[in-house]
Amino acid sequence: MLVSATEMLNKARAGKYAVGQFNINNLEWTKAVLSTAQENKSPVILGVSEGAGKYMTGFKTVAAMVKAMLEEMKITVPVALHLDHGTYEGCYKCIEAGFSSIMFDGSHFPIEENVAKTTELVKVCHEKGMSIEAEVGSIGGEEDGVVGMGEIADPQECKKIADLGVDFLAAGIGNIHGKYPANWKGLDFNALAEIKALIGDLPLVLHGGTGIPADMIQKAISLGVAKINVNTECQLYFQEATRKYIEEGKDLQGKGFDPRKLLLPGTEAIKVIVKEKMELFGSINKA
Ligand code: 13P
Repeated sequence: MLVSATEMLNKARAGKYAVGQFNINNLEWTKAVLSTAQENKSPVILGVSEGAGKYMTGFKTVAAMVKAMLEEMKITVPVALHLDHGTYEGCYKCIEAGFSSIMFDGSHFPIEENVAKTTELVKVCHEKGMSIEAEVGSIGGEEDGVVGMGEIADPQECKKIADLGVDFLAAGIGNIHGKYPANWKGLDFNALAEIKALIGDLPLVLHGGTGIPADMIQKAISLGVAKINVNTECQLYFQEATRKYIEEGKDLQGKGFDPRKLLLPGTEAIKVIVKEKMELFGSINKA
């Protein structure tokens, strides 16, 4: 059964570890993430961007697939199905489709409008037992055509949005989506500590988990980060393993063209990186 992400993240924050949000793109991705979570007794959050939802023919398809997989794969660890960087309209679609968690990304709205829309969505989500994430300070890099400039969130704005009753908060602290450029300055831990001091126990979310060095991840967790989003790294692992399979000519041998064979190395590679992240985040055996 799908659960909201509130309880797993409150436990993670209190226990000083983080739960990974791994973005899914298709059946293979979902199967890989779910089986890794189950094998390692880790709670997990499946992230679905608006673009990925569209790719999979809609959020209803995604919710139906994930729910059926939990049953067929006999998954017993806590799993949340979460909309990543949702628009206002996308949030309502996911609420209707049966997701257990959403992120409303109102970071591009003027603060008053972000407040009004977040307040409304908090009420709707909580009535349905769902969790809701909000974002302050847009996160840089490019994701699904959404390009942010990479801001450091204003701690007072974080407090304002946190006080609306969201269940966890994404705050920009110099993190960006995708690969980090060579001249990246690293995470701003002073900003993180300032935000944490104002918002208290509310779990914080770190987007752009791909390529953040392990010591920075650990420091961020020690300062209140309880959810870390990883997307690009799974894509890169999938791509590399698939490329290797084809370059080695395996698709030309026997029935190597069978999609179940062709997509297997990539699927197995996702499992490797997801497990590595769960180890780094400290979520193994926390289910
Ligand atoms: P990466 O693609 O950099 O891992 O970021 C994922 C993310 O933050 C999803 O919201």
